[in-house]
Amino acid sequence: SSRTYFIGGNWKCNLNRKEVIDLCKGLASTDTSKVEVLVAPVALHLALASELLSKTKIHVSSQNVSATQKGAYTGEIAPDQLVDYDIKWSIIGHSERRSIYHETDAVVQAKVKNALKHGLSVKFFIFIIVCLGETKAERDAKKVQEVCLGQLKAIVGGIEKNQWDQVVIAYEPVWAIGTGDVCGAKEAQEVCQLLRFAKILYYVCSNINFLKDNVSGPVANATRILYGGSVKADNALELIQQPDIDGFLVGGASLKVDSFGGIIKACQ
Ligand code: G3H
Repeated sequence: SSRTYFIGGNWKCNLNRKEVIDLCKGLASTDTSKVEVLVAPVALHLALASELLSKTKIHVSSQNVSATQKGAYTGEIAPDQLVDYDIKWSIIGHSERRSIYHETDAVVQAKVKNALKHGLSVKFFIFIIVCLGETKAERDAKKVQEVCLGQLKAIVGGIEKNQWDQVVIAYEPVWAIGTGDVCGAKEAQEVCQLLRFAKILYYVCSNINFLKDNVSGPVANATRILYGGSVKADNALELIQQPDIDGFLVGGASLKVDSFGGIIKACQ
């Protein structure tokens, strides 16, 4: 496809200062010329990572962002505060945020809206990776489509038509996250393809069941859809060869230069 592959490293709540420095130094000398690469450290390390990667084209991303603007919201980080530190990306709606911190679809949608916001009074926006995916119980109950499209619908509801170039979608089946139990390439492709066509169909017909027609469009063709869940250097190649998988959101394997570099290499 014409879409540039995108590889995100979600460091989650890992690494200390020294480890961030070492990892960033390693990444700075990794060849990323043919792909788009992003790393997401904890908020405390954003400025440090940003400084260490300033001479590269690797994006530095927050792992979360507030649904509100600046104000009396203890513990939150507003989008314009990220922009002010030259952090132009955030992950939104990761399954750990959803399950451990009770972020509902409504919360995810509010965060998406707030991050993409720009208007007369608000003149900033950030780019976002928005995550969705089903649990093991939902997959066993054959609810993959229903769950993923339900989450997608909430996400799409927060995005204006002209904001899609600020958005990357990540399909992360919860049962594959951190388990070593990677989703089969064929199964991952199936869901990514469904997401791509469902997304454009939302505009054509608000009925989300309207999925079988292969309507295409500029947004569906241009939007990057990533797979996430136990991606490693040795399973990346088969996954990236799928037509609707445009890259990865990597957890565990993004914490070491060798393994993350191996995944980047598989995509180049
Ligand atoms: O955001 C990343 C995903 O949660 C994947 O994590 O690669 O450790 O399975 P993992």
